[in-house]
Amino acid sequence: MRKKIVAGNWKMNLDYTDGLSLFSEVINMVKDEVTGDQQAVVCSPFIHLHSLAQMAKGYHKVAVGAQNAHQAESGAYTGEISTKMIASVGAQYVILGHSERRQYFGETNELLAKKTDMALKNQLKPIFCIGETLEERQAEKHFDVIKQQLVEGVFHLEAVDFDKLVLAYEPVWAIGTGVTASAEQAQEIHAFIRKEIAEKYDQTVADGITILYGGSCNPKNAAELFAKEDIDGGLIGGASLKSRDFVDILKTFN
Ligand code: 13P
Repeated sequence: MRKKIVAGNWKMNLDYTDGLSLFSEVINMVKDEVTGDQQAVVCSPFIHLHSLAQMAKGYHKVAVGAQNAHQAESGAYTGEISTKMIASVGAQYVILGHSERRQYFGETNELLAKKTDMALKNQLKPIFCIGETLEERQAEKHFDVIKQQLVEGVFHLEAVDFDKLVLAYEPVWAIGTGVTASAEQAQEIHAFIRKEIAEKYDQTVADGITILYGGSCNPKNAAELFAKEDIDGGLIGGASLKSRDFVDILKTFN
């Protein structure tokens, strides 16, 4: 059985106090209401990470992650945060390659491959994001784009590294737009990703990896998406800022 994960990406939202309040609500709701063995992963801004990790300590149903990290071990990179620093405060995950980082900060597959290596080296689990733009889908290049992101971003890894990797398919046209990929469209890509992994590695690696869907996922559409064979959870933006919505999405796996 693949691990089921619902990850929240708070993006650049919530000050320190508001972040702690939201997280506290999430933990309490998860304790009261989540009956399965699915995991919530809250990916907050860096300033919250230490406190959130303390609040979640010893409670395996809720983990904490960052939204980015630098590719170097340490050094003269003013303003940057290393994977080792993130791990040192108790975070377990890091989102890498989110389309907003690719778009606004020029992050390339080549750079993301390095970030992935450094995250794994420091015992952080990457949530590696891939996905096509609307233009690419309309030009019917979406399979090519996804394949290239996989090949250049993660296919240099060893098969054993896939135990610590999570993939997230986030079509750029569905992020923050209210337009969700249909469950069929998402499943088609998830199955494609798994097929590519099986061809590069083997079926066991492909069957074992958790692949999340992200893009306007909410409590209303989560059930249909997560019912698909190859969709193992979600990466949630807007709806992760409301404890009720986020936990309701998580409870899809109850
Ligand atoms: P929305 O859920 O707001 O569309 O954001 C998705 C996302 O980018 C999660 O990383």
